[in-house]
Amino acid sequence: MTDPALLRSRMIDELTAGGFLDPGWREAFLAVPRHAFIPDVVWQEQRRDLVPFHRAEDPDRWLRQAYAPHQALITQVDDGYPVGPGLIGDRISSSASQPNVVALMLAALEVTPGMRVCEIGTGTGYNTALLAQHLGADHVTTIEVDAAVATQARRALSATGYGAVTVITGDGAHGYPPHAPYDRILSTAAVQQVPSAWVAQTRPGGRVLTPWGTPYLNGALLSLTVGEDGTARGHLVDNVAFMWLRDQRIPLIWVRDCVYDENKAMVSHTDIHPGRVTDDYHAALAIGLMVPGCEYRLCRAQDDSGEYTMWFLHPPSRSWASIGYIPNTDTYEVNQLGPRHLWDEVETAYTRWVQAGSPTADQWQFTITPGGQRVELPATTPQEECLIVGDAFDDGKAALPA
Ligand SMILES: C[S@@+](CC[C@H](N)C(=O)[O-])C[C@H]1O[C@@H](n2cnc3c(N)ncnc32)[C@H](O)[C@@H]1O
Repeated sequence: MTDPALLRSRMIDELTAGGFLDPGWREAFLAVPRHAFIPDVVWQEQRRDLVPFHRAEDPDRWLRQAYAPHQALITQVDDGYPVGPGLIGDRISSSASQPNVVALMLAALEVTPGMRVCEIGTGTGYNTALLAQHLGADHVTTIEVDAAVATQARRALSATGYGAVTVITGDGAHGYPPHAPYDRILSTAAVQQVPSAWVAQTRPGGRVLTPWGTPYLNGALLSLTVGEDGTARGHLVDNVAFMWLRDQRIPLIWVRDCVYDENKAMVSHTDIHPGRVTDDYHAALAIGLMVPGCEYRLCRAQDDSGEYTMWFLHPPSRSWASIGYIPNTDTYEVNQLGPRHLWDEVETAYTRWVQAGSPTADQWQFTITPGGQRVELPATTPQEECLIVGDAFDDGKAALPA
């Protein structure tokens, strides 16, 4: 049987060598036994299915996974009620985040002794334990929406000596007012729209750190500082992908469920390679901001022709578009149908992004007030207008046909 302490020390060496672990957090990573927070059943992705793996099947492998520095472990699927035959799941609903991502987010949090932190998305409780080890358990409040996940985390925290952490079962979007104000709010679930309660419960000068994204691109880390006037301002500081906060989830949708009446589609052509609007991280971020609610999927041809179709979908308005990619060609056929002309919107957004000088993700400025979220790209010259996105969050309702 492999020694957990040895695995832990190897994980820490790798995190350090990779530049993920801030030296100030090393002691906490050494002290907290990660395997004590991992449930006996974890889930593994096999093609499109999530399949359970039991610790008893291979205890050594289970333990090695617990200390794999770049691997997230899926700890719950389908909110604890997997529906597929043989308990195969569809959607990841809780996980132990990759240790390298945990380390980089804790470094980005910039906490100092004495600070009080509210964590949203307790999950396994591992990140909570690191915070508790670093700041003192009585300085940490954590909120988990799923009662079974919260119970398991409470158990693991008590068993490892961090039982004094306050673990709340509830909707973290509301924060936890009884312990406010906080110096830091750290979310380990992604948002499309930052809940105003997080800003209201952070002291002036304090920070909110949260994964942020759009249906087009889930993959950014937003850092906000709260001002004396109660407004939070900030920008994207890294690239991380997380599961969504429960109320801001995007329904799982198959292309075949969204695409209809293909023979009635409006046909046009474009010389924009579909990869240009999806593969470039900074372009995809800007398009996601400017084309609210749009998602995309790539479907490759079954043969080895290299052909594929890129689908753009907006399920609430029943709008879809597609581009057929054929290698060694310069123009691509576009089909679109529905009240929103999704390809036209994507192409316009991409063109605006290029005309604005292809700004990088960190250049977008975020402002959160009780009235909502505003995202803008400041003008660099007095002649330029800034590119304003307003509230980039699309709940789908505005786009529903009357
Ligand atoms: C990525 S996991 C957390 C990872 C955790 N920090 C760890 O390393 O074990 C995200 C968690 O957020 C929880 N969650 C989702 N929406 C939430 C909400 N509205 N309030 C509180 N927790 C939420 C999920 O149930 C899930 O357990």
